[in-house]
Amino acid sequence: MLRTHTCGELRIENKDAQVSLCGWVQRIRDKGGMIWLDLRDRYGITQLSFDESRDDAALIEQVRQLGREFVIQVQGVVMERYAKNDKIPTGAIEIKVDQLTVLNSAKLPPFLIEDETDGGDELRMKYRYLDLRRAPVRNNLMLRHRLMQATRRYMDHQGFLEVETPVLIKSTPEGARDFVVPSRVHEGEFYALPQSPQTFKQLLMVSGFDKYFQIVKCFRDEDLRADRQPEFTQIDCEMSFVEQEDILNTFEGLVKYLFKEIKGIELPDFPRMTYADAMKNYGCDKPDTRFGMAFKELNHLAQNKGFQVFDDAALVVGIVAEGCAEYTRKQIDALTDYVRRPQVGAKGLVWVKYNADGSFKSGVDKFFSQDDLKAFADHMGAKPGDLMLILAGDENKTRSALNELRLKMGTDLGLRNKDDYQALWVIDFPLLEWDEDTQRYYAMHHPFTAPKPEHVSYLKENPGSVNANAYDMVINGVEVGGGSIRIHDREMQRRMFEILGFSDEEAKEQFGFLMDAFEYGAPPHGGVAFGFDRLCSLFGGSDSIRDFIAFPKNNAGRDVMIDSPSAIADEQLKELHIKIAPTTKS
Ligand code: AMO
Repeated sequence: MLRTHTCGELRIENKDAQVSLCGWVQRIRDKGGMIWLDLRDRYGITQLSFDESRDDAALIEQVRQLGREFVIQVQGVVMERYAKNDKIPTGAIEIKVDQLTVLNSAKLPPFLIEDETDGGDELRMKYRYLDLRRAPVRNNLMLRHRLMQATRRYMDHQGFLEVETPVLIKSTPEGARDFVVPSRVHEGEFYALPQSPQTFKQLLMVSGFDKYFQIVKCFRDEDLRADRQPEFTQIDCEMSFVEQEDILNTFEGLVKYLFKEIKGIELPDFPRMTYADAMKNYGCDKPDTRFGMAFKELNHLAQNKGFQVFDDAALVVGIVAEGCAEYTRKQIDALTDYVRRPQVGAKGLVWVKYNADGSFKSGVDKFFSQDDLKAFADHMGAKPGDLMLILAGDENKTRSALNELRLKMGTDLGLRNKDDYQALWVIDFPLLEWDEDTQRYYAMHHPFTAPKPEHVSYLKENPGSVNANAYDMVINGVEVGGGSIRIHDREMQRRMFEILGFSDEEAKEQFGFLMDAFEYGAPPHGGVAFGFDRLCSLFGGSDSIRDFIAFPKNNAGRDVMIDSPSAIADEQLKELHIKIAPTTKS
């Protein structure tokens, strides 16, 4: 072994021990007679000391030749430090070095490899292997490792079998585009990378595996966001002979276990909220329940008072920002600008201040008397000192804009504390979603989700009103997982494809294997999948899942380190039977 200890290990108890350490030169401080060197490895930092009046001149010369990120091995004695550093675990000691070996030299790194770096995003991505040397990034991946091991422990303990499913498959529609891989052997044919192992895990239930899980890569060609990567990891799970309640309990158990094991937090039982309530009270299906500010509808109080914006609106709805009656004109203008941004999409914002003295001041005083505004306040639960913020317009757009405003107010008022974890299940999702553009229904979760048995009879007449036993787990406004009870009956699956606009031939061509399997004794089953990267970022207190992936893609879906995607050689294209039109290639 080149080393007796790691750089994070030695303490005052090791005083006088003869040790050898290996690592990277983080920093050298040369104060004339004394030189200190911080030696770093995965485990920590240990200070090395050199004294010109004490040490060999050749050794001192050797140290002066070192640069940042050189890889060295040293041998020496553990000494008590004169000036201790209580910020690091090894801060009470230093190594008086007798012998130093350079294991490898290093070019000057393009950014500082320290907790606070001067490297911009792109640069750090290009040299991700250097970025990964930094403690904050490494700690994120260590957290990921711990979450992964704890997940496996829990699932194994609950009797789940981890089974790997193939990566070169056929398209499964989960709402995003597929990444496809051309086949060399079968000209003109393509594999698709799985958006999830959905159909395979259902087939494993037909095979009698009963309880399956897999920590698995999924691929979706969709627009990137902070919480979306084109390749990401799921904890994918399926169970047989279960009802929704069994699944919710089992996986609430998983998440509670992870919080206890990794963060020492005991989460209370997760509340359940129906999709309908989530949309009505928070304007979204993944409400952040760390704070209240629930929506209050005002149509009955706000309409027919001569204010056209309200009178013409399908919905008038508002929230109460506690203690914000003192907001200045400038602050209110900023909120108005915010809701008018195209991403939020409201036309304007109506504000009503409930002053501390009990009077009201609003942007619509012309139309509403003090009594009218008092009725708003009573209905909305506002108190003197509060600010009411009201939007009006088309039902869906208004709810969605107020959701954005509510989240912004929550952030501005410091109500979204990263160390406060509020989890819930959103249940009773609609089975289908109508799309105006294509004039057809889409599966809200996926086409394998079963309608609620008591709603099956509406499928023909009013498919839009059918709910599913489909559920999402939401923590702090993040959808961390989702799943459903599945169809396990061939005829029902056929009807579902029919409602989704598949012809019998198309359904057979794409999913014949699954429908056939349903004819050979498919048990009732259901499951869930968690976004593992999202769980990691939540546990790590970050909004970006990129920080928890060793080698992520950038916002444009590129890996700038390996330079991918990239062109391939003409020879390879030819083998794959692919012709690229000159215009698209250049
Ligand atoms: P769904 O599509 O809801 O369900 O995905 C499950 C969870 O995966 C995470 N997720 C993502 N994470 C990062 N980047 C992405 N691009 C991305 N897309 C999804 C989310 C989401 O909740 N087969 C079904 C599950 C089932 O029915 O059992 C499925 O994949 O956290």
